[in-house]
Amino acid sequence: MSSYLDRIGAGLILSKPEVFGFDYVPELLVGREDIQENLAAIFSSIGHPEGTGRAVITGPVGSGKTALAKRFCKDIIRHLSDKRNIRHVHVNCRNAATPSRVMQKIVQDLDPGHPDRGLGVGELLTSLRRMLHSSNTHLIVILDEVDHLLRRSGDDIIYKLMRIDEDREGAGTLSAIMVSQEQVLDLLENAVLSRVGRSNHIRIPPYDEKGLLKIISQRRDMGLVTGTCPDEILELVAQAAAPSGDARQSIELLEGAAKRAEASGRSLIESKDVQRTVVTMPTNVDSMNIDDIPAHAMLILLGLCRRLKKQESVTSGEAEKLYHVVCEEFDETPKGHTTLWKHLKRLAQEDIIVTKTAKSEVGRGRTQHISMPHMLPSDVARRLETLIPARLRR
Ligand SMILES: Nc1ncnc2c1ncn2[C@@H]1O[C@H](COP(=O)(O)OP(=O)(O)OP(=O)(O)O)[C@@H](O)[C@H]1O
Ligand SMILES: [Mg+2]
Repeated sequence: MSSYLDRIGAGLILSKPEVFGFDYVPELLVGREDIQENLAAIFSSIGHPEGTGRAVITGPVGSGKTALAKRFCKDIIRHLSDKRNIRHVHVNCRNAATPSRVMQKIVQDLDPGHPDRGLGVGELLTSLRRMLHSSNTHLIVILDEVDHLLRRSGDDIIYKLMRIDEDREGAGTLSAIMVSQEQVLDLLENAVLSRVGRSNHIRIPPYDEKGLLKIISQRRDMGLVTGTCPDEILELVAQAAAPSGDARQSIELLEGAAKRAEASGRSLIESKDVQRTVVTMPTNVDSMNIDDIPAHAMLILLGLCRRLKKQESVTSGEAEKLYHVVCEEFDETPKGHTTLWKHLKRLAQEDIIVTKTAKSEVGRGRTQHISMPHMLPSDVARRLETLIPARLRR
């Protein structure tokens, strides 16, 4: 076999690639304990023979809605395994945006051999009811990305699913969790809304940098070879994904950086692997908004970039020294301390750098750690080296 394939499957860094898969839900969700408790409270009666629960989960992209719903179903099924026979079905309404597609997906998941062709929604509902009753099963249906269904087909099928027991002898057959990025309560009609209950709405916030850091540390520990990804790299990844608050983006970044490092034959992820991955991502901030910054901000940035090629972060004290060296090179008198701080603040506001104040710093209180997660320092340095002479000549 040709040697160009040697590195594939070598696993220098990625030991369990499936951990980075699109559908992967870890055994434990990190940092969402309060929200998990809220959801459990909504489903508090599900341990009883006829108990059901109904919830709506909304939140921005990558905030962990799907993971929350799926994890809950798996956990509750295990938790109640000796009390009640529970199953769950996950329906992505982006792919199943009509009542019949939703019903087909549910019935097919429960009974892969079920003949669904040509059956109407009513017949599928009857089949479902019969199936669940005969096996004494309680079903939790997750209607994910439910806004697609609501917009295309209204909430009729949700209404029918929720009243699967009404008019029949039966109770507690089905629970539902509706999930959406959007605020979907407005799209529900009163008949459904009153069956869900407004108080059963969980709004989840986007992740902040700390939350993302916890998530990617967990993925590192599960999916990467020990010692291949230092903490500083995780911090850089979390900083890069923080503006979006999107856990998926942070996980993809970590995986992308790991693959890049592997592809160049290394068994250690470096900051350039992260930065090179960031610049290929669609939500990348415009890396060339450096053209319009003041001359001395450019000089400061150049000093930073030269050091950040080799290091994940630079302290503000180092930044000042590096700035002085660059000033000397360009024959400029360095500006004072206050101006330096002002420029650093502005560079941070424009997302060119990220600054973090260290907590346990002794002595001078204001030491900051500066990093550049969104751009490749070597690219920015190269660009500044051509921009600065022109700017200083003006
Ligand atoms: N608290 C968490 N702990 C561990 N992993 C998490 C956590 N939250 C989210 N994730 C992971 O982050 C990724 C994105 O989460 P998820 O798919 O649940 O987001 P979402 O809110 O459903 O996004 P979308 O709106 O795009 O559907 C998944 O890989 C998920 O496993
Ligand atoms: Mg989702």
